[in-house]
Amino acid sequence: MSREYAIAVIDSGVGGLTVAKEVIRQLPEERIVYVGDNARCPYGSKSPEEIRAFSFQMIDFVMQTPLKALVIACNTATAVVLEEAMAYLPLPVIGVIEPGARAAVQATKSGRIGVIGTETTIRTKAYERALLRGRPDLFVSGLACPDFVPLVENHQANSQKAREVVKETLAPLIREDLDTLILGCTHYPLLAPIIQEVMGDQVRLISSAEETARELSTQIIPDTYSQLSSHPQHLFVTSGDALRFRSIAEEWLDCPVKVEYHSLEKSVEA
Ligand code: DGL
Repeated sequence: MSREYAIAVIDSGVGGLTVAKEVIRQLPEERIVYVGDNARCPYGSKSPEEIRAFSFQMIDFVMQTPLKALVIACNTATAVVLEEAMAYLPLPVIGVIEPGARAAVQATKSGRIGVIGTETTIRTKAYERALLRGRPDLFVSGLACPDFVPLVENHQANSQKAREVVKETLAPLIREDLDTLILGCTHYPLLAPIIQEVMGDQVRLISSAEETARELSTQIIPDTYSQLSSHPQHLFVTSGDALRFRSIAEEWLDCPVKVEYHSLEKSVEA
């Protein structure tokens, strides 16, 4: 299998870049096709029906490219469509919830784990199920943090406002005596320094990006271009403002990126 088969990474917007970055770091020979549905972000406050419809529009779009695997790099979409996508697609499909839950189970000593995410992710209890499947003795406390994504989207992740919002939102979790906290949303790693400060050093923060990329590496046939010195040409597609996407992607990935605009709705009608 060669580089004509890419790894697709899909998300509701720019948040999945935290996962794409880790995939690029761990699998530098692989070509990534990233799709961010920025025009309809955030998914976290939408109904499961909408999230399902939008996610499959991204999937149908990206399936026009020859793929070796699909990563659903959005916790909300993973919670709603992972099982259906795995049944529907003839290739490995990896979500971010199982890998994050696995990393948390490995990290916890006291067995008291917190999960923060969007309203939909928390409501589906997808993390809770994944955590308790292998370890029914765990104490799991989930909390929706709907104000976190806008802070990141508005470039306020390091602001005083972010500190205040994070402190106020996480107050109920501070009383839970946790030793591990899953950042169950793609945007939250960008708030990690503040979340750590608020939760205290005794709480280990878990981001699923690293573990997701590791799981991906076990499910694909590595690229045979590795003997060649060329770098893969990644492609980033957004349904929103391509210039804005490029500036965020270049800042987070720390390299120049090629961004194309596509209307995901039209791609399905075509
Ligand atoms: N990507 C979403 C997630 O990981 C966060 C942003 C959104 O609500 O769409 O849950």
